Amino acid sequence: MPPRFPIEVSPSSHPTPTDERSRVLASALGFGQIFTDHMVLIPFREREGWLPGALQPYAPIQIDPAAAVLHYGQSVFEGFKAFRQVTGDIACFRPDANAKRFQHSARRLAMPEMPIDMFLQAAEILIQQDRDWVPSTRGTSLYLRPLLIATECSLGVRPSREYQFILIASPAGDYFRGGIKPVSVWVCDNYVRAAPGGTGEAKFGGNYAASLIAQAEATQRGCAQVVWLDAVHRDQIEEMGGMNIFFVLESNGQTTLVTPKLSGSLLPGITRESLLLIGPKLGYAVEERTITLAEWISSAQAGQMTEAFACGTAAVITPIGSMHGQHGETLIGDGQGGPVAQALRDYLLAIQYGEAQDLLGWMHRVC
Ligand code: PLP
Ligand code: COI
Repeated sequence: MPPRFPIEVSPSSHPTPTDERSRVLASALGFGQIFTDHMVLIPFREREGWLPGALQPYAPIQIDPAAAVLHYGQSVFEGFKAFRQVTGDIACFRPDANAKRFQHSARRLAMPEMPIDMFLQAAEILIQQDRDWVPSTRGTSLYLRPLLIATECSLGVRPSREYQFILIASPAGDYFRGGIKPVSVWVCDNYVRAAPGGTGEAKFGGNYAASLIAQAEATQRGCAQVVWLDAVHRDQIEEMGGMNIFFVLESNGQTTLVTPKLSGSLLPGITRESLLLIGPKLGYAVEERTITLAEWISSAQAGQMTEAFACGTAAVITPIGSMHGQHGETLIGDGQGGPVAQALRDYLLAIQYGEAQDLLGWMHRVC
């Protein structure tokens, strides 16, 4: 198919040699450490709109010290994955949903909205070029990281008139070092991540910068992730540092997946939304509602909450074994994870690798 938007393709004259790439792909990939041979750049100028893009060798970019992003932080990003299908083809999971959220985040930060087709085309061109970087073992994928930054050289505090879109790709394995072993989490009560009317539901770099001090405190306490409470009541569970959260409640033989409702200050995760849709197919009821820290503690102690898990593109589905906070430690179930998170994870991965029927049309075949 001819390109819908002009993206000039200039492949690297010295791509990673095949044996080196195979060695890297066979190693423990972890998350966000290794990058493929190419990247896509698409500039935007207020007067001209989106300018012709370029696929070029992965390399450092030059940025003027007066570029707005370096001073006032206009920067939004996305994250989605391409999977090697059982057939050998490559397909992305719901990239159109990421493209829409990228637009939403850009709008909130007074940045230009990239057309959905342009976003998808950039991804297709990069994946096609670097297709040999898509790993094939279960649990691995190619993580795509689109980024939009303000590049106008101006120190006036106003929306930049120039931007750069950047797309890079990274072969990825497990986000957490222990793989899918249950993690412990730290409930943060001294900082807030996002407030009503703020930027919490945008995938905005500043949200992550503001979360790092709490994430560091969680790490000091031996926890893998921070859990955020709402900014107003300071007792409602919102989400985690880089993922959404689900609870599994058992009552009268019915299993219910509960996740905090979208409050405007938590990220509307695409994995979260997908699990709300596939949960009922596995026989689970689903609820989006307020859940307080007090309810989390009491229902876990009463044995009604049998599991809790983190979900997101990077984290996939990772069980939460225990929750820590000023109140002490609360074990969830026996602390070892459980069958519901496992069943959801198996089903989601089966769709993503093309083993299960893609009933909801989520997979976007690239090549
Ligand atoms: N919440 C935050 C703060 C995140 O960074 C992410 C990751 O993207 C998520 C939730 C999960 O979103 P998704 O499932 O779209 O990856
Ligand atoms: C993702 O899952 O794509 C994310 O962006 C989360 C990452 C920041 C840990």
